[in-house]
Amino acid sequence: MAISSATGKPLTSLAKERARAYTISRAAAGGFKRRGLRAYFEYRDLGIEKSSKGKVVAHVIKALPEKAPHGAWHSHACNLQFVYVLKGWLKFEYEGVGVITVKAGDCFVQPPNILHREWAHSKNMELLEVVAPANFKTLDGPPLVAAAAKKPKPVKKAVKKAAKKVAKK
Ligand SMILES: [Fe+2]
Repeated sequence: MAISSATGKPLTSLAKERARAYTISRAAAGGFKRRGLRAYFEYRDLGIEKSSKGKVVAHVIKALPEKAPHGAWHSHACNLQFVYVLKGWLKFEYEGVGVITVKAGDCFVQPPNILHREWAHSKNMELLEVVAPANFKTLDGPPLVAAAAKKPKPVKKAVKKAAKKVAKK
């Protein structure tokens, strides 16, 4: 029987559950991969997505020195997104805000769905990004364009479906 080092009593099932959810991502393990949203960055996943069961993703993003950002307008459909710049600098443009340069030590929140584009970043740029939920979507260009691209159901199909519903009753 496992004994709690905190209480001296047997571990409760809740304490065991919490212990299983404990997550650590060691710097020494490295873990940067050229797999993520942008081909010009490397990503180190910090394991938060798994421990939060998809509620949040957190990663350290590092610039690939030989590559530049694509600079295209886009938005992220999420509930929360914030960035803490660890090294170097980045220059963004936000709709209604303007061009912003952020440097190491700066932290900013990108409101959900705000249109933005990245102009440039330093070769040594590193940042910590936290986004909720983990499987957030990225839309190219204005959200209205993306929404318009989604075709509505044809009227005939909708009428047939409604008729079937009525027939079942
Ligand atoms: Fe973005």
